[in-house]
Amino acid sequence: MPIHIAVGMQWGDEGKGRVVDLLSADAAIVCRYNGGDNAGHTVTVGKKTFKLHLIPSGIIHSHTIGILGGGMVINPLTLLDEMNALKLSGIELSPRRLYISPLAHLITPAHRLLDQAEDEARGKGAIGTTGRGIGPTYIDKAARRGLRAGEILEPESFRVKVKQHFKLVDRQLQSLFHKEPLDVESMTAEWVAAASKLAPYIQDATTLLHDAVRSGDTVLAEGAQGTLLDLDYGTYPFVTSSNTTATGIFSGLALGIMPVDRIIGITKAFQTRVGAGPFPTELSGELAARLRGTGANPWDEYGTTTGRPRRVGWLDMVLLRYAVMINGVNELCITKLDILSGLPEIHICTSYKLDGRECEILPMGLLPEQMNAARPVYETLPGWKENITAVRAWKDLPKSAQDYIRQLEMLSGVHVSMISVGPERDQVIRLD
Ligand code: IMP
Repeated sequence: MPIHIAVGMQWGDEGKGRVVDLLSADAAIVCRYNGGDNAGHTVTVGKKTFKLHLIPSGIIHSHTIGILGGGMVINPLTLLDEMNALKLSGIELSPRRLYISPLAHLITPAHRLLDQAEDEARGKGAIGTTGRGIGPTYIDKAARRGLRAGEILEPESFRVKVKQHFKLVDRQLQSLFHKEPLDVESMTAEWVAAASKLAPYIQDATTLLHDAVRSGDTVLAEGAQGTLLDLDYGTYPFVTSSNTTATGIFSGLALGIMPVDRIIGITKAFQTRVGAGPFPTELSGELAARLRGTGANPWDEYGTTTGRPRRVGWLDMVLLRYAVMINGVNELCITKLDILSGLPEIHICTSYKLDGRECEILPMGLLPEQMNAARPVYETLPGWKENITAVRAWKDLPKSAQDYIRQLEMLSGVHVSMISVGPERDQVIRLD
């Protein structure tokens, strides 16, 4: 079956956007199945840089159809902005090319206010959410009072439900977080008017998807965030509120349980995290600043969505082995190998010392305080001096860079099919 899944192996920001862009060259349909505009995917093509938060990155290729699946939470305001920006950059975005599942839940400005107020109230225990309203929207979905995209098509009842929603959140904001009252009437009118603009795009794509799979067309599902932010299997509670792992596609796209050809795990050549939570291989000081970059380039380690500096560290094989296992990954893409150029030596965390035991794979359900107490065990490899951003073939990589990749394959048990050495579409080394 021609289903391909691209999934992040870390805490998001692995460079999925640029990898998905490359993989989409062979795909007929590109889909998002989870999360919302907490995601930020960057694709650079020639002089143009596209920033995507909701629309699948594969839409940049003119032959693809893009689907925003039912497992997603969608903020109509950011989606409309994103659509306008893409249209201005010359990307065609008619309802023929873009499908929004009627099952996707809608994020309102009230969800965002609630998200921010809740995280602020957590004080020292804050998750450091993106403040995009992701958690409160999934809460409403689970509480069966959410607003679904399909409801936009019934304007009268939609308006009534939206007003009820704003009133409820207004009461919560005032009573629990002592916030100023919302102007429910005008918020309802403005938000309903904006959300209604999406009506032509709200169309069920399930049959389209199944027909494509049956006829052998490639369907590429693009995971948002990363495995370690999965609501169930991530570093709970410092996670997002959706299933970011590969299994999320079956429920998030109504695909049924189907064989999947390729499950492509995407990992940076080092580790990053934005927001709070355990990070055993975290670095500080000069080395961290060197890996993070100054922020002058769009590919430096600053959040695409929030602009926050990312925490950085050495590649952690305990986490990578876990991510490979729970996603069923059968190939790896390594991004940002070029950033390691010039380091005299490179460390890889091969195991943790945990409670006097040596552990090579993350134990399921480890508490944050237990993970904070884990002591990483490192293997040290020689670095390389050469700038590798112009390398396009394996044989042209410095020997130490080849050894780093081979060691990574050996330690993860998965072969590497692609290495990216820069943000441009062609800055890639294919190994297959
Ligand atoms: P939320 O998804 O906004 O609720 O944030 C929950 C956690 O996930 C926070 O630590 C965020 O920084 C992190 N997070 C959410 N989306 C992304 C992403 O796309 N990349 C990296 N981290 C993310």
